[in-house]
Amino acid sequence: MTPPPGLHWPLCYVLPPMGALPTAPRTARAHVSDVLGQWGPPHAKDTAVLVTSELVTNAVRQCHDPSGRPVYINGRLPVVQLSLFSDRERLLIAVYDQAPGTPEERHPGHHAETGRGLALISSLGHWDWYPVEGGKVVRAILAAAA
Ligand SMILES: Nc1ncnc2c1ncn2[C@@H]1O[C@H](COP(=O)(O)OP(=O)(O)OP(=O)(O)O)[C@@H](O)[C@H]1O
Ligand SMILES: [Mg+2]
Repeated sequence: MTPPPGLHWPLCYVLPPMGALPTAPRTARAHVSDVLGQWGPPHAKDTAVLVTSELVTNAVRQCHDPSGRPVYINGRLPVVQLSLFSDRERLLIAVYDQAPGTPEERHPGHHAETGRGLALISSLGHWDWYPVEGGKVVRAILAAAA
């Protein structure tokens, strides 16, 4: 996954693609925690782990049908891929997936149990998405020290 143009990202970590399985969010969280630990200050791990978890969970969920079965693409389990980029002021978290559909921020009522993930990310930073060959990338940009 290539970083978006226009900004210089001296720190970069691209995890190999992983199967879009329920274990993927946990794996992604562990990588973010380790990588930001290695990158050191000012990177704040907790917010980045939370945002990553929301993005990867969304990607995995969209790769499953309503009964929870993975939706195969050309006979293969779909993959998700996590990338992190930082210039020590901003942290970019990008998640590639192969699922159909488009991410849309919801406006959940007080009693809603879902529809909060992207709204949460908006409250912490900025998110958007763009199509790429075979899928899409959903990305969040946060202050590195958020
Ligand atoms: N990677 C994605 N691919 C396709 N659609 C997505 C993706 N991420 C999110 N969406 C769509 O955007 C909606 C809003 O996502 P959001 O994370 O805010 O809420 P949610 O996942 O439905 O619930 P919650 O995150 O509170 O468990 C989702 O319901 C889904 O329809
Ligand atoms: Mg969600």
